[in-house]
This record gives sequence, structure tokens and C-alpha cells, in this order.
Amino acid sequence: MNEVITAIMERRSIRSFTTEMVKDGELEAILQAASYAPTFRNTQAWFVLALVGLDRIRALDARLKEASLVPGFDRYRDFVSNPSYTVNYKNAPLFVIVGVNPEISNCPLQDGSLVIGNILLAAHSLDLGACWINQLGAVANEPGFRAYLTSLGFPATHSLVGSVAIGHVKGEPPKATERRHGQITILR
Ligand SMILES: Cc1cc2nc3c(=O)[nH]c(=O)nc-3n(C[C@H](O)[C@H](O)[C@H](O)COP(=O)(O)O)c2cc1C
Repeated sequence: MNEVITAIMERRSIRSFTTEMVKDGELEAILQAASYAPTFRNTQAWFVLALVGLDRIRALDARLKEASLVPGFDRYRDFVSNPSYTVNYKNAPLFVIVGVNPEISNCPLQDGSLVIGNILLAAHSLDLGACWINQLGAVANEPGFRAYLTSLGFPATHSLVGSVAIGHVKGEPPKATERRHGQITILR
């Protein structure tokens, strides 16, 4: 196998982190990889907000918990209210939020997901761990939470596609689960 395919196969979702910071150069490399994701008609209509450091991430976590109590935006209410829940699995010192402008791209979900895919893989290639975090999507349009995101620089025009917690892996990374069978057909 070549390096890229090996990295794709070895990457795992990491949910246990040390508090060691991600280096600036590593963050830049991750964001550069993000910026090379394919996009609908090369519209590159994505935006990444990177929150560096536990203080910023804890502030986000508190806002998420608050917004998740608002009726209509409470899909993850019980989940995020659990005292053991934090948006960054407690220690991850880098958190990135990915959005796409649906006025520019016809495929915001696909574009944003590919950006996130590149981020996950780039983090893995740098010996960092990363995990897609889905809970922000449910509150992205709750007015208070949206105003908070806007105040951080996340464009009001953009749909929030997903977010990623990134940091140094604590302990042994999990092994890949068995791949499902019978999901590929090749006709020659
Ligand atoms: C769209 C999407 C949303 C996800 N949301 C979460 C999440 O909120 N929290 C989490 O711990 N993992 C989340 N994950 C990670 C998946 O649980 C993980 O990819 C899956 O269990 C397979 O494990 P692997 O990534 O190690 O191969 C998400 C993954 C995807 C693709």
C-alpha cells in the first residue's frame, strides 16, 4: 500500500487527548490540507474557524450547553448536559468549526465534509488525533449561539457543517472495527 492509502486505513477517531498544544506549524499544515479539498465547481465556499487553547474551547462548550436547552434546538440536550460531556473530549487544545456558504455552493454538506475529511487525515499524518464533533450543527441556528459564532468571526452567511477536536493522542489509539462486507459491487 502507498502512504496515502495506509494513512486512510490507519486513521481513527480519537476521543482521549493530552493537553499538549498543537504546534502552529501543524495547525497551518492541517488548514492547508483543508484548503485543498475538492469543492463543487471549485467554488471553495468553505470557512474554517480554528479555536486554539482550552479557554476558548471551554467558552464554546458552555455556549453549546446553553443553546442545547433552547426548545427546538435541543436534539442533544441530554447528551451535552451530561457533566462528563465536553465538546473537545475534555483536553483537546484545538477545535475547528467548518462552514460552507450555501449561496455559493450547491453542495455545502458535501464540500464541508470533504474539508473535514482532509482535516482528519492531515491531523493523523502529523501524529495527532482528531474526531468529528457533530453537536454544534444542532444549535448552529439558535439565535444566541449564532450571534456568538458571528462574534468569533464565523460568517453569518455560512451553514455549519461540522467540527473537529484535535490534539495529541492519550493512550493507545483504538483499532479499526471489522469492515462490513457485501457493500461493493464491481462489474467488469
Ligand atoms: C458525520 C459524522 C459525525 C460524527 N459525529 C461524531 C460525534 O459527534 N462524536 C464522536 O465522538 N464521533 C463522531 N463521529 C465519528 C464516528 O463515530 C467515527 O468515524 C466512527 O465510529 C468510525 O470510527 P473511525 O473514525 O475510528 O473509523 C462522527 C463521524 C461522522 C462521519
